[in-house]
Amino acid sequence: MRGMIYAVSPEGVIGLGGKLPWSHPGDMRRFQRITRGTTVIMGRATFEETGAALPGRRNLVVTSRPLVAADVEAVPSVASALGLAGDGDVWLIGGARIFAEGAAYAELIDVTYVPDHVTDPRAVHAPPIDPGLFEAGPLLPHEDEPGLVRRVYRRRA
Ligand SMILES: NC(=O)c1ccc[n+]([C@@H]2O[C@H](COP(=O)([O-])OP(=O)(O)OC[C@H]3O[C@@H](n4cnc5c(N)ncnc54)[C@H](OP(=O)(O)O)[C@@H]3O)[C@@H](O)[C@H]2O)c1
Repeated sequence: MRGMIYAVSPEGVIGLGGKLPWSHPGDMRRFQRITRGTTVIMGRATFEETGAALPGRRNLVVTSRPLVAADVEAVPSVASALGLAGDGDVWLIGGARIFAEGAAYAELIDVTYVPDHVTDPRAVHAPPIDPGLFEAGPLLPHEDEPGLVRRVYRRRA
């Protein structure tokens, strides 16, 4: 399985100033549970935000620069990260450029919708999901945080 996973505001925002511009602990809990035991692929900025390797996962960081950090492997592209990850479950976990490139490879996109409005022009947006490539599933209640909803998009056959 190759998936992408993120939370998004009503404006399509995923980040601001190198951080998540909201706090939804239940969504973080679900993220930790879903990705545990898998390989996670992230951009350098997202890695710097987390500050350290996510435990219990193989951490691949896409960067064009040298990166020295414990329990993390630096890779030059999404394609090389996927090659290194092999056949196990893989989650692309952000940010925007990783999601834009990852759409060519992902079988599914797991999106959580948060109600927090983010209108700052400096915000980072998720790339649009091409309805020709991905079919939207139903809106689902969020298992770990009442008040949030989520949806899974699956690659069309
Ligand atoms: N809402 C969510 O679920 C979610 C999830 C993840 C992240 N975020 C947010 O997103 C924001 C960060 O995202 P971002 O888009 O600004 O940055 P990002 O994708 O995390 O990192 C960007 C960096 O990754 C490297 N990179 C990405 N794609 C590459 C490629 N194809 N080839 C080579 N290097 C590549 C480059 O590093 P070098 O400059 O080192 O070459 C680039 O500067 C933060 O605010 C974070 O909180 C939100």
